[in-house]
Amino acid sequence: MKSFRIAVIPGDGIGKEVVPEGIRVLEAAGKRFGLSFEWRGFDWSCERYAKTGAMMPADGLEQLRPFDAIFLGAVGDPAIPDHLSLWGLLIPIRRGFRQYVNLRPVRLLPGIESPLKNWQPGQIDFAIVRENNEGEYSNIGGRIYQGTPDEMAVQQTIFTRRGVERVLHYAFELARTRKKHLTSATKSNGIIYTMPFWDECFEQMAANYPDVRIDQFHIDILTAHFVRHPDWFDVIVASNLFGDILSDLGPAVAGSIGIAPSANLNPEREFPSMFEPVHGSAPDIAGKGIANPIGQIWSGAMMLRHLGEEDAAHAVETAIAESLARPEMRTADIGGTAKTSDLGEAIASAVVGKNKVHVVENRERAQPAER
Ligand code: NAI
Ligand code: MG
Repeated sequence: MKSFRIAVIPGDGIGKEVVPEGIRVLEAAGKRFGLSFEWRGFDWSCERYAKTGAMMPADGLEQLRPFDAIFLGAVGDPAIPDHLSLWGLLIPIRRGFRQYVNLRPVRLLPGIESPLKNWQPGQIDFAIVRENNEGEYSNIGGRIYQGTPDEMAVQQTIFTRRGVERVLHYAFELARTRKKHLTSATKSNGIIYTMPFWDECFEQMAANYPDVRIDQFHIDILTAHFVRHPDWFDVIVASNLFGDILSDLGPAVAGSIGIAPSANLNPEREFPSMFEPVHGSAPDIAGKGIANPIGQIWSGAMMLRHLGEEDAAHAVETAIAESLARPEMRTADIGGTAKTSDLGEAIASAVVGKNKVHVVENRERAQPAER
């Protein structure tokens, strides 16, 4: 039996409600495919910050390092400024572990209605590759003359050739495993140093991928195309900020932020990668047991795939689709009344083969061979 050691960080709010459902479904997949998981919980969160003044201990990364992967819920609490929770936990892990690819698949699933008119499952199916380590989210900068009329804030955007090329490389390879079409998000008309640099790197790398069709759009019109022509896209590569924005818009177009998964990948596998839903801690619905657990569960499928368990990953994705075909299993965000645990249980049962309902096969394409 293959065994994996997984660090579990439920975090805050609905993170603590959806993570147990993710574990339940992965355990079910383990039972079916002969995998065992050693789950080790960490209470790193805003709650911990309120008690100790830190989101995680000083040696947090060393503690996580030996694990095969990290399974995270969400962090954030209205009582703690968001930049403290983000920079105290997620960003140090993403950077410290060189998780420079943030992969966010967007797919309109059967049983989910897009807020856009007339789109059917199968027509919206793309993947956002967000640069996850540098770009606009840098901690170089500062403020002076705080609280005076002369106050000033400066924040440097950082694009390195190494950082841009490695994420582009990943995106081109991913496009090769899909419909061989890669779109680059840019803004080289307004941001005149970093974005032309990004464009140049894109063009140079495209020369190595004559089989991949490329295009690029400025981020402003690209957001409009996401809404008007979501079927135009296969793989989209974007900087940290643009990718962050597109990857909330994409899932909204596909029905609900509650179903969107993400993987923070260190493709070289020098460090553990981290799997978490796109959504946050949702304080407005936390504690009610009504959060949609699919974002977390689908992130678990991405984790299985990263660990080399493609069949188990596919089984989880199929089980998600099967459960959505049962209207009584839908949570409030997708128009139902089911509880978080009802949907989690239904997906876990579907993984082991109970409650079979016929659905159209919609197999996730494999991720590129990782370097
Ligand atoms: P959010 O994603 O937590 O919530 C946005 C809206 O979507 C809310 O109305 C919420 O109820 C709904 N929603 C989100 N996930 C859902 C689910 N699984 N099922 C049903 N409805 C769901 O984003 P928001 O409100 O901007 O941020 C709340 C907190 O989360 C903040 O502290 C923020 O910093 C943090 N955050 C953390 C992230 C992370 O841990 N990766 C990512 C985004 C936000
Ligand atoms: Mg975001």
